[in-house]
Amino acid sequence: MKIGIIGAMDEEVSILKERMREKKVSNIASMEFCEGIFEEKPVVVVRSGIGKVNAAICTQILIDRYQVDAVINTGVAGSLRNEIEIADIVLSADALQHDVDATGFGYEIGVIPRMETSIFTADGNLVKNAKKVCAEVLPEIGVHTGRIVSGDQFISDNEKKEWLLRNFDGYCTEMEGAAIAQAASLNQIPFLIIRAISDKADQSAEMAYSEFEEIAIKNTVKLLTGLVAVL
Ligand code: ADE
Repeated sequence: MKIGIIGAMDEEVSILKERMREKKVSNIASMEFCEGIFEEKPVVVVRSGIGKVNAAICTQILIDRYQVDAVINTGVAGSLRNEIEIADIVLSADALQHDVDATGFGYEIGVIPRMETSIFTADGNLVKNAKKVCAEVLPEIGVHTGRIVSGDQFISDNEKKEWLLRNFDGYCTEMEGAAIAQAASLNQIPFLIIRAISDKADQSAEMAYSEFEEIAIKNTVKLLTGLVAVL
């Protein structure tokens, strides 16, 4: 099973790349794809760049050029719920794009016109395995499985945060996951989004992000290492 692992930023993938062996690097669409072996499994680790367009392009390249069997997105996110604390992990049950708005055309907010669905369901087996590994390698932190809501916006405002929760019942928010989910789903490729909480998506988000990004990323690396080993 060849696994594609996408992080939006260098910080989110650099530790994984350091721990890979037999590395072969290719530059496609201004993204550095690093193919090799991690935890004895064939993987392709790539920094997509920030935002939904980069994430979707990156996913399609992993599928077309590298023929990955599954796509895992790793990174940080803002929590949308009081019970989801900084450094906790959120695993995607499903994902949607909160900034799709065709309400003027009679569609509900978040619904992509003329698509069968706008909510993309993560692979049950990947979720199950990730939960199990989390309990083993990160017993001290909270692990939550729920909806991830993505948009081309850094959320740092309480009103917007409440709007996201009210309209979409999201667990956390970030800027790539649902685009990766959509691209993978259109290609019938299983996917999972793993996000560690770096901030609370409110007025404190910018400061919290800088302070907690590193610890959040360390948690995703621990989880990914355990997860890839059992796939
Ligand atoms: N990634 C991490 N925190 C985020 C936030 N508050 N909004 C969007 N993306 C994020």
